[in-house]
Amino acid sequence: MWTNTSGGVVQSDSTGPPLRPDPPEALALSDVTVRFGGVSALNHVDLEVPSGQLCGLIGANGAGKTTLFDVISGLRVPYSGSVRLHGTDVTGWSVQRRARFGLRRTFQRVQVFGWLTVEENLLVANEWRGGGGGVLGDLIGLRSRANHERERRTRAEEVLARCGLLDIRDRSAASLPIGTARLVELARALMDDPTVLLLDEPASGLDSSEAERFGDLVTRIAEDHETAILLVEHDVGFVMQRCHRVMVLHLGEVLADDTPERVRDDPMVLSAYLGTSAD
Ligand SMILES: Nc1ncnc2c1ncn2[C@@H]1O[C@H](COP(=O)(O)OP(=O)(O)OP(=O)(O)O)[C@@H](O)[C@H]1O
Ligand SMILES: [Mg+2]
Repeated sequence: MWTNTSGGVVQSDSTGPPLRPDPPEALALSDVTVRFGGVSALNHVDLEVPSGQLCGLIGANGAGKTTLFDVISGLRVPYSGSVRLHGTDVTGWSVQRRARFGLRRTFQRVQVFGWLTVEENLLVANEWRGGGGGVLGDLIGLRSRANHERERRTRAEEVLARCGLLDIRDRSAASLPIGTARLVELARALMDDPTVLLLDEPASGLDSSEAERFGDLVTRIAEDHETAILLVEHDVGFVMQRCHRVMVLHLGEVLADDTPERVRDDPMVLSAYLGTSAD
């Protein structure tokens, strides 16, 4: 029998080395409720996404998907319930503090800085992590500043290459078609190696080959970089094909949370969301 000690190490009653317990889920929501006046946009929602998992979130318009993202990212404080990142309760934390803890998101309405180039859109995302010297440091060109600048550019180049954007690094972001702008938004979110990534309708407005490319990239990010990804999408085919797991929200409540195959065959999901009868 295994017992949990105060240090969090699991030790067997018999001899042998102590075993570490499984790490906490990268993202966990517990009993989250959000109300807008008399409307419950989310009602006692629980959700866990482990590292390396691509979890799809589907539901009809107004089901509460974006509200859930706002709660996770810190834009909205829930009426009740909690949000944990890697086991730490972040419910009271600001958006910026959660971002420093490894959380990034993209938006339902794609948000790139149109007056910057593709590469600059990535460079602005890679926040300054110190180096000292303040404004004076900039003026006299401290070596740490120059090193940091080089690191940022190298990192941007890696991410641009990973997202297939190297060839258009100097293009103005304002001139990009929606599919490419969504890739730039994703690339910007990847600059600081997020451990938890929220994607709000990333395939919306993409044609089938762009969606395919986007799906391949997102799958690689989850699996190769051990990132926990929660993805909201109306394209049910994309979600069923790409996600390890699917959660269905209906009027602010969790209707199903299972493998794509089981969710697709769930009679409640078929009638409430997919609009077809199970018969
Ligand atoms: N700021 C707000 N004030 C009042 N009600 C809101 C607000 N934001 C969302 N709601 C309501 O909360 C519910 C959930 O909205 P939400 O935007 O989260 O849905 P969604 O699942 O993202 O929908 P969609 O698929 O259309 O993007 C809806 O009834 C919506 O009208
Ligand atoms: Mg929405």
